[in-house]
Order: sequence, then C-alpha cells, then structure tokens
Amino acid sequence: MHATAIAQPNIALVKYWGKRDVSRNLPAVGSISITLRDLYTEVSIDLGSGLSQDELLFNGERNDEMLPRIAACIDSVVGEGRPRVRVSSKSNFPIAAGLASSASAFAATTVASASAAGLSFSMLELTQLAGQASGSAARSLYDGFVELKNSGESIEVTSLCDVDSWPMQVIVAITETEPKAVGSTVAMEVSRKTSPFYENWIAQQDQDLDSARAAIDRRDFESLAVVAEHNCLKMHSVMWASRPPLVYWNTATIACMQSVRRLQEDGCKVFFTIDAGPQVKAVCLPEYAAAVREALEKTPGVQQVMESGLGIAARLVEPS
Ligand code: PMV
Repeated sequence: MHATAIAQPNIALVKYWGKRDVSRNLPAVGSISITLRDLYTEVSIDLGSGLSQDELLFNGERNDEMLPRIAACIDSVVGEGRPRVRVSSKSNFPIAAGLASSASAFAATTVASASAAGLSFSMLELTQLAGQASGSAARSLYDGFVELKNSGESIEVTSLCDVDSWPMQVIVAITETEPKAVGSTVAMEVSRKTSPFYENWIAQQDQDLDSARAAIDRRDFESLAVVAEHNCLKMHSVMWASRPPLVYWNTATIACMQSVRRLQEDGCKVFFTIDAGPQVKAVCLPEYAAAVREALEKTPGVQQVMESGLGIAARLVEPS
C-alpha cells in the first residue's frame, strides 16, 4: 500500500480565476497552461501504515496546515472509509507562494494515492479527481501546452502540442518566499462576489482562449505574448477591484515587469505572467533565456531566479 509520484507545476498563460461550483470545485472559465520540467513535487503515500491519524510531512517536517486539503484529496480518490495515511512530500521550490505548488502537489497526490490503493482510473477520471482538489492540478496531469475546457458538468483536459514541438524556457523571478496572505479558493470567491469587473472577465475568456490556441497552433510567439500578458493583467485588475482588494504584487513584481518590457524593446522574445502571488514568470524562446535570466537577476528586490524548460505529465515513480 505504498506509492510515489512526481508532478511538475504548470503556469497558466490564459488563467483560471473564479469558480462555477465551489462544492465540486468547478472552474468558471477554461484555461491554457504550460507544464514545467525542472520544478517538481514528489509525493509518497503509505496507506494503512499503522497510524491512528493521517500525517503529512513536507520536506521532512510535519505540516498540519496543508493536511486537511491533502487528506480530502485522498478521501476522494480512495474513499472516505480508507485506512489512515502517511504522506511525505518534497518540492524544490517555495510552496503556497504563487508558484503553482498546489497544482504539482495535488496532481502527484492523486496519482500516488490511486496506485497505493491499487485503483486504476481512466485519464478522464484522474483529471476530475485532481481538478476537484485544485483546479490547476488537473493541468499537471498533461505535458507541454495544455488546455482545460470547462465543459458543462465536468472538466476536460487536452495537450495542445507536445513538449518538443515548441520549446520554451520559463524564468521565474522569486520576489518573496513567504506563503501568500489569501489563498486562491477564498480570493476567487471574494472576486466573484465583489469585483465589478468579474462578469466581463468571464465573458471575455473564450476570446482569449481562442487567440492563445490559434497562436500556439501557428507557433506565433508575438500573438501568444500579447494575449497572455493581457489575460494576466485583466485577472489582476479583477483582483485589485475586489473588496477587500487582492493585491499580490510587491515593488519587485513591478520592477520585473519593467525589466521584461525593456527586454522586449531590445527585440527579446519574452513575455511575463503572474499568478496569485508576487513572483514573475518570464516565458521566452530558448535562445533568449540567458539574457532574460541576467536581466531578472539584476532587478532590484529579486531574491532568487529559477529556470525551467517545458515538461512532462505527472507520473508514478514507485511502483514503476
Ligand atoms: O488551482 P488553484 O486553486 O491553485 O488556482 C489557480 C489560480 C491561478 O494560478 C491564479 C491561475 C491558474 O490558472 O493557474
């Protein structure tokens, strides 16, 4: 009753913000993301390990804060009458800080707990289970460019093009490593209930998805850059106009956006995107990665820079 899975985080280029059904965690909009290669979360599950209660170790230390969500994810995969579980998780990047750690954590937990319980699910079933735990986690079950379709009563996820057919590098500028003040589930509901821009955000999403899909089909970097930056800034406008306001940025976040603008003015094929946190992800064609990295490293307030290519889907590593 033991299994280990690895999943990579993914970064949305057309973002998910808002839920259609909170109890089933169904997103209000579709989204398009890229799965990363070099950042990862590894989750080991021991079911029925003689414990009297569930236990979560993160990087070797007990983590009671994240345990309820992880336990609920395992409940939905294995069933509520399941034996107690020991979960050991490790990541090579900061968690809960707007770096899509929930995507990789819940994708890996879904895959590992199904295997530990000896259950086999179709990809569609795994997608629903991961998506129920965290909307973005369903996307980490797939590689490369990924679209999550918000289709009626469930979600559907597809790979738009594989990892090798349009290589890109993602340079992540970390401007703060502390966990964010407001988690995305709570924040999305605040936006839905209070932001005057929320309805327009929902109404325009299909247009942004169409533009991004078409840009990916044509391997048209400039068009993808335009729609991704627009969609990101639109999501943050929805957040800023919420009551209370949801401002995840700090001064270094803005300084990084300015660094990306200067790189673009010099002809560098790069664009930025920012999730519910202060980190800036600069997506570029591989030949520009060194210049982007250097510019972000020099940007005031940047604490650390991480780099990743595009990567593969969540997978079981043990039993292999
Ligand atoms: O899946 P969650 O609950 O971590 O929400 C993800 C929200 C964003 O990262 C801001 C956007 C996205 O599509 O990943």
